[in-house]
Amino acid sequence: MSQENANLEARLEEQDAFEPPESFVEQANVTDPGVYEEFEENWPECWERAADLLSWDEEYETVLEDDDAPFYEWFTGGTLNASYNCLDRHVEEGAKNRAAIKWEGELGETRTYTYGDLLNEVEAFAATLRDLGVEEDDVVTLYLPMIPELPIAMLACARIGAPHAVVFAGFSADALATRMNAAESEYLVTCDGYYRRGDALDHISKANEGLESVEHDVSDVVVVDRLGDDLSHSLGSNQHDWDELMADHEGASVEPVSRDAEDMLFLMYTSGTTGQPKGVKHTTGGYLAYTAWTSRAVLDIKPEDTYWCSADIGWITGHSYIVYGPLALGTTTVMYEGTPDYPEKDRLWEIVEENRVDIFYTAPTAIRAFMKWGAEYPERCDLSSLRLLGTVGEPINPRAWKWYYKHIGNEKCPIVDTWWQTETGGMMITTLPGVNTMKPGSAGPPLPGIDARVVDAEGEEVSGGEAGYVTVNNPWPGMLRTLYNNDDRFLSEYWAEYSDEDADEWVYFPEDGAKLDDDGYITILGRVDDVINVSGHRLGTMEIESAVVGVEGIAEAAVVGGEHEVKGEAVYVYAIPEDGYEDQDDLDERASEAIDTSIGPIARPEEVIFTPELPKTRSGKIMRRLLEDIASGNELGDTSTLRNPEIVDEIADQVEAE
Ligand code: WTA
Repeated sequence: MSQENANLEARLEEQDAFEPPESFVEQANVTDPGVYEEFEENWPECWERAADLLSWDEEYETVLEDDDAPFYEWFTGGTLNASYNCLDRHVEEGAKNRAAIKWEGELGETRTYTYGDLLNEVEAFAATLRDLGVEEDDVVTLYLPMIPELPIAMLACARIGAPHAVVFAGFSADALATRMNAAESEYLVTCDGYYRRGDALDHISKANEGLESVEHDVSDVVVVDRLGDDLSHSLGSNQHDWDELMADHEGASVEPVSRDAEDMLFLMYTSGTTGQPKGVKHTTGGYLAYTAWTSRAVLDIKPEDTYWCSADIGWITGHSYIVYGPLALGTTTVMYEGTPDYPEKDRLWEIVEENRVDIFYTAPTAIRAFMKWGAEYPERCDLSSLRLLGTVGEPINPRAWKWYYKHIGNEKCPIVDTWWQTETGGMMITTLPGVNTMKPGSAGPPLPGIDARVVDAEGEEVSGGEAGYVTVNNPWPGMLRTLYNNDDRFLSEYWAEYSDEDADEWVYFPEDGAKLDDDGYITILGRVDDVINVSGHRLGTMEIESAVVGVEGIAEAAVVGGEHEVKGEAVYVYAIPEDGYEDQDDLDERASEAIDTSIGPIARPEEVIFTPELPKTRSGKIMRRLLEDIASGNELGDTSTLRNPEIVDEIADQVEAE
């Protein structure tokens, strides 16, 4: 490293606050610090600003209806269509030839859909779905990887008022079946396969295996031909070739259905404390208004931008900030099918250069991988088009933040560290890039109109410098409305901890720990429930545990998250073999396979540790914190309250030896 560079690194390392660059502020969508006060003084009417970003068929009568709290309603009485808002209105305003989606496949092939093209495709698929018998409010499951047919299918569903339920393509057959069963979904759109590191992966076999475990009749399955092989031979009797159906419906015109603001736009299953995933319900008016508003205020998106979020559409980030928010604003959104290091570790930076990307939004786990690979890869490419950077999904450590700031943003781009959840629909805690000072490692203050706090166990706000739990003390338009078919679980999961039901005071509990500083900035510390965050993917330890204890030869298991340099957290399995199974060499492999089968490769354990006992309290509770510390290589605290303290050293020695 040259002396000059070394000085630069040293300066950056010491700096703990960064002002938004002047060049950015000059052009930013939001620059007035008064916006916080405006929202506070005019709450909840302030949210009309978000609703005003949309085109309504019927104007809403009430901004917020809280009679039946916490079953809040937003923009009551209003009607609109999400696909109209993401497509038709832009075409009507003259943007027919503007690129809506720029897609790059793993093999290097590209496809660009203008707003006009995308509308045509969406209408053709909407007509197809109708012909198959899909009616308003039927849930359509989309089990697709990062190919343009996924957003096309989502918007086609939205056009005819059929909620979609996207299942991440990396999930297993069992995970697909669990979700289709829970949503009673009778329609599936999937594909033959897709590419990973140059190899074709089979997907349809996984889909078919999942379909075998669906408990109700599935009326139709549409299969996209991604691999280019002959599909027709492999299709079952109720399975159709996407291309054939689309050819039959080419040029179709399908009127967007007027949906009530509170009608369901989609369902998204996410992990919780129990083994059963939660079906988070999002609505048409509030969700779309909120994602459009945050895309504008936080991501600073303008119609003429090329914007890229490198998440997968199979997760909420892709729903809100690849598809709905950006398209509602009429911008160009980039989609990439593959991995960041294929064929080389500069793949993402090549995509930025080729597309002249203005705004780039990714996950801390990716940034930590870039850091490990080295600055030489981004240095090979021209990244000067970038104006703003973002991160989401997990805490970002200051070192990774600064690396991102320097080596990707060239110290010219603000970084927004956005905290939010599947349930919140959109961003909640983050700086506004044209307004606030940035502090690496801290997400920032709550957004205007969001009353997020850090509280102690009693719900009292903590002082600056103290840690506690995040709560959100007033509702917001993008919030989940309930858990599908499970109002009780909605109440108990999110509203039981801090609300005062008798006083009709409702407090949302996201189950995250956090620290507050003297300026009101919030640093998120991580989940406080049995959910772990592996590479920004939310996984329930109970789901993984139930897969492991189903393995023949395993008597008991505990699954925890341990710190991981790149993934943030990794899965650690501690298992007790059944008598007679202690010497089975393949027991750990079978445990990993069981996890693959029930969830998918993303949940594969870092280590499976066999032990004759698990550390337990006198009342028989497994001490998970201790197991987490062992996995993370942390110093172990007091073990004297355990029934079997001697086991702890034994386990720790084993983990160290691995
Ligand atoms: C974590 C992803 C720290 C958090 C959008 C949350 C974060 C969970 C951040 C939700 C951030 C998300 N800093 N932690 N900027 N963003 N998280 O539902 O623990 O997949 O509760 O939504 O990710 O994960 P989910």
